[in-house]
Amino acid sequence: MTTKTIKHYLQFSDFSRDEYDYLLHRSAVLKGKFKRYETWHPLHDRTLAMIFEKSSTRTRLSFEAGFHQLGGHAVFLNTRDTQLGRGEPVEDSAQVMSRMTDMIMIRTFGQEIIERFARHSRVPLINGLTNEYHPCQVLADVFTFYEHRGAMDGKIVTWIGDANNMAYTWIQAAEIFGFQFHFCGPKGYQLDPARVAASSRPFVKEFEDPRAAVSGAHLVTTDVWTSMGYEAENEARLAAFKDYMVNAVLMAHAHPQAVFMHCLPAHRGEEVSADVIDGPQSVVWDEAENRMHAQKALMEYLLCGRLDD
Ligand code: CP
Ligand code: NVA
Repeated sequence: MTTKTIKHYLQFSDFSRDEYDYLLHRSAVLKGKFKRYETWHPLHDRTLAMIFEKSSTRTRLSFEAGFHQLGGHAVFLNTRDTQLGRGEPVEDSAQVMSRMTDMIMIRTFGQEIIERFARHSRVPLINGLTNEYHPCQVLADVFTFYEHRGAMDGKIVTWIGDANNMAYTWIQAAEIFGFQFHFCGPKGYQLDPARVAASSRPFVKEFEDPRAAVSGAHLVTTDVWTSMGYEAENEARLAAFKDYMVNAVLMAHAHPQAVFMHCLPAHRGEEVSADVIDGPQSVVWDEAENRMHAQKALMEYLLCGRLDD
């Protein structure tokens, strides 16, 4: 078991507002260096292990390309090809992997898996999505909002859809950044009050009517109706969510300057209409690209602390 305190990023609430202010600024700095083809190798000779127990396009590529751009090397591992998939304990895997690498990113099922992993890791661990949270995505989303519309304090973020890993991560962000989170989903798929911290409750409001939820929103966002790991519920979910599509009629109720976000992959004609996701209010491609810039700032911070060049 590790003796020194290691900083991990397992959920959004692991960092303070001050740390996020630094990370948002640093994401912009690193994005500028990338756009100017400026070489920046603070992680020269470092190794990142990326463990995937679920599929990914954006998370894998953004971590792999981002770590490479910082001067390091990323190794892709999946459960199928490693001993994790044959029952080697998470604790033993953490001991071994963290003796050979400088940082580990995991995409897995239960949050308790990454918590157990972290307790036995000698290096920083990053949550690349669990059933409960997706903090790297919301970090990129907040950065994207800052780029397009500025600070989030006092703003309204409306979530239409499932009470999933993204929704619960947005709730943690609402408390830290001081915005209002409007949640609207069908009966049976609403927020579990036990999962909303008492300190977050003043920042969360639940709605039955999507139009009321979206009213005045500065950011409207949604996600797939069936998250990875819940595929057996797909048919029931399609029926339950059918009136919860974010379309142009719904977007018309939002603030005139509202932006639309989706973590992707998206299903046009289900949770979002094509004219919204491909329309002028959508910032989904910047949002996807910003995964890489925000995670570079995160990885640099976890290994090097605050830098100012
Ligand atoms: N948004 C996101 O995490 O995408 P991937 O599943 O492709 O990594
Ligand atoms: N809520 C989705 C996000 C995918 C990036 C899922 O967990 O499958």
